[in-house]
Amino acid sequence: MVNKNAIILAAGKGTRMKSKLHKVLHQVCGKTMVEHVLTQLQEAKIENIVTVVGYEADTVKDALGSQVHYALQKQQLGTGHAVMQTEDLLGDLDGETLVVSGDTPLFTAATFNHLCQYHEQRHAAVTILTSNAPDPTGYGRIVRNEVGIVERIVEQKDASVEEQAIHEINTGVYCFDNRKLFAALKKITNNNAQGEYYLTDVISILKEDNEIVTAYQMEDFDESMGVNDRVALARATKIMQNRINTQLMKDGVTLVDPATTYIDADVQIGQDTVIEGGVVIKGRTVIGADCLIGAGSRIENSILHDDVTIMSSALEQAEVHSGADVGPNSHLRPKAELGENVHVGNFCEVKKAYIGAGTKVGHLTYIGDATLGKNINVGCGVVFVNYDGTNKHHTTVGDHAFIGSNSNIVAPVNIAADSFVAAGSTITDSIKQFDMAIARARQVNKPDYAKKLPW
Ligand code: UD1
Ligand code: CA
Repeated sequence: MVNKNAIILAAGKGTRMKSKLHKVLHQVCGKTMVEHVLTQLQEAKIENIVTVVGYEADTVKDALGSQVHYALQKQQLGTGHAVMQTEDLLGDLDGETLVVSGDTPLFTAATFNHLCQYHEQRHAAVTILTSNAPDPTGYGRIVRNEVGIVERIVEQKDASVEEQAIHEINTGVYCFDNRKLFAALKKITNNNAQGEYYLTDVISILKEDNEIVTAYQMEDFDESMGVNDRVALARATKIMQNRINTQLMKDGVTLVDPATTYIDADVQIGQDTVIEGGVVIKGRTVIGADCLIGAGSRIENSILHDDVTIMSSALEQAEVHSGADVGPNSHLRPKAELGENVHVGNFCEVKKAYIGAGTKVGHLTYIGDATLGKNINVGCGVVFVNYDGTNKHHTTVGDHAFIGSNSNIVAPVNIAADSFVAAGSTITDSIKQFDMAIARARQVNKPDYAKKLPW
């Protein structure tokens, strides 16, 4: 087995992005571009990975953590200069080194593997991964001689009119013989339109040294797309989304309208779950089997067990157990947890509250900072009054309690199991088991008084 290393270039500012955020930290389907690259390198079983950081180095380090080693490029003098900064970490190693940019989020592990195989079969000093771009503007072009042998790469800004007409582009991914890479880098100059040390110049240098230079042309241009601005970011997101949705469907998830279904890269969904159109599922959400996610729902970093129904609702950091249903138009906020077969109907909000199995919260209710037992009925328009203007307070409700409509439960209180709250009550004191609480003014009927009113 050949020793394999990889270098991820992520030191450049990414001026064309026009952003406060580092270019490689922009997200494609919920995951930063540089993390997409890293995940695929890891999947290709490359363990020794060095990321070149420079501009806002710490933000990139925070995103990737200890999964990679880092080389610092203090000044961004070009992609060749960036690779030179890894010499202390890699220069002495035998084997091959894959170089990838942090702004090409769509490459797959399979492509990296194919590139390395092609490279090894040809005993090359370098194999350039190329593709055929419908519009090659902005990319380096692959210049071949009359018999099709790769001569060099020319950057857009340095290319002649004839060279600009070439559609075969440099994807920015290369497989190098490691030692030959570092030897050739010593010879590059910044004598070009951008005054930068181009990694691409290594190709002609190796060529002059009579080394074997080859190119492996991949079929799918989309996969090789580089993201330099927001237009490309949106395009890459579309391609990635299509890929994610296709995989989910192949795995047994029904997407009623994949074109309008937005699911992040790390979301997991079980078989026979049906996702209607206009749904957004984000972050590390895990959804079980046989669920229905109705049109227009937005679910973020939540866990849904099997057989859960969500209708046009918003969930964030919530957990919903099997058989429960939510919505339409309800909101589960962080730390809301619904037990098995809980029903949360329309226009309800639940925050930092556990609701036990079989409990029903049908309509227009706010439950915050509370623990509810099993098989409770919460009437319409109940408010758990959890905030006194300074602190939040907690409420507990025991199994099989009944809370009448339009009640205010002023925390902290404890409503015991099997107790009953009469409709329209404002509960400020705890209630014992089997007691009924009624906390509202008594009704007074005044005979014939309505006749005296202007109505
Ligand atoms: C580069 C290639 C081009 C190729 C294209 C593919 C060069 C000179 N050009 O152009 O042939 O078609 O990628 O997408 O290599 N970076 C550093 N330090 C620097 C400069 C850049 O780390 O000093 C990093 C950037 O953060 C980025 C990557 O290198 O992740 C590529 O740089 P970028 O400026 O985007 O190069 P392109 O113009 O796209
Ligand atoms: Ca780029």
